[in-house]
Amino acid sequence: MKFPVYRARRLRRNETLRRMVRETFLRVDDLICPLFVRPGKGVKNPILSMPGQFQFSVDTLVQEAQKVYDLGIPAVLLFGIPKAKDEIGSEAYARDGVVQKAIRSLRDAIPELIIIGDICLCEYTSHGHCGVVKGNEVDNDATIDILARMALSHAEAGADMVAPSDMMDGRVGAIRKVLDEQGFTHIPIMSYAAKYASGFYGPFREAAESAPQFGDRKSYQMDPANAREAMREIRLDIEEGADIVMVKPALFYLDIISRVRMEFDLPIAAYSVSGEFAMVKAASQLGWIDEERVMMEILVSIKRAGADLVITYFAKEAAKLLREKGGY
Ligand code: PBG
Repeated sequence: MKFPVYRARRLRRNETLRRMVRETFLRVDDLICPLFVRPGKGVKNPILSMPGQFQFSVDTLVQEAQKVYDLGIPAVLLFGIPKAKDEIGSEAYARDGVVQKAIRSLRDAIPELIIIGDICLCEYTSHGHCGVVKGNEVDNDATIDILARMALSHAEAGADMVAPSDMMDGRVGAIRKVLDEQGFTHIPIMSYAAKYASGFYGPFREAAESAPQFGDRKSYQMDPANAREAMREIRLDIEEGADIVMVKPALFYLDIISRVRMEFDLPIAAYSVSGEFAMVKAASQLGWIDEERVMMEILVSIKRAGADLVITYFAKEAAKLLREKGGY
C-alpha cells in the first residue's frame, strides 16, 4: 500500500482518532517517585538544581509520600542523607539510620505504598564513593558485604523492595543470599543493572550530598559508549536473582532499553535522572520549551522504548496531568 491509496494522515485527523490508534500508554501505575530524607524535624530544603524537589525530614517525608500515594503513584524510591558520614558508610546499615526510620514511619502511615530502598554507600561515605576505598580504589568484595547489610536493614525496617545502585560486581547475589537467609525471600530486588557513568547525575549529587571527593565513578559505572556490555550486566544480575532490571539514565539510553526489552523477559525500570529533569526545568524557566509537553513526550518515549516502570522526578506532575487528561 502506498500513496495515494495509503495516506498516513487519515488516522491523525483528530484527537479521538489518534487516541484510538495510539500504541503506547503512560499510566500512573508506571511511575516511581524518588524522595530524599535527612535528619531533623519539619525540614523541607529546596534542591536548587532540581526545582520542586526537596530534602525532607521523616515527618515531612510522610506528608509528601501521602500526596504521592493519593495521586495514585504506587511507589517511592528512598535516598538518605545521614547525620554523619565515615569511611565505610556505617550509617547506611544502622538500625536507626535516617532511611530506616523513614521506612518505618512510611510503613505505618501508608501501608499500601510500595517502599523501595536505594542501596548504595555514596551518600554515607566521607569520600563520596559508592563503596569502601582501599588505597585509591573502590574495593568490590569488601563493599558487597556492607551493601548486603544495608539491604537487610531496609527489609527489617519494612521496605517492600531494595534497589542496589552501586555497580559492584556480585552485589545482587550477595543481597539475595542475605535476604533469603534472614527470612526475606519475598522481598524483590530491583537492580540498577546497566548504570552508566553519566554527567547527568550532577543535580542528584547536590540533592543527596554525595559527590565523590576525589576521582570519579568510571571504575565501577559503565562506559556510555557500551551497549553489548549492558546486556552482559543485565544477564549477570538476572542470574544472581534480580527481579526487575534497570537502565539508567533513560533518555539518552533508549537504545539500551529497547535492546534489553528484546533480549530479556523481566520487567524493566528506567531511571530518568536528575540531569534530564534539570534540563527540562531550566529550559522551561527560560521559556524555551513547553514543560508539560516535553515531560510527557520524554516519559512516553521511555515507555515506547520498552520500559515498564519509569523512575522520575516528574512523577507527581505527570500523575496530575494523567488524571486530568485521562492518559497520555
Ligand atoms: C547512587 C545513585 C546516584 C543516582 C541514583 N543512585 C548517583 C550516582 O551514581 O552518582 C543518580 C540519580 C539521579 O541523577 O537522578 N549511587
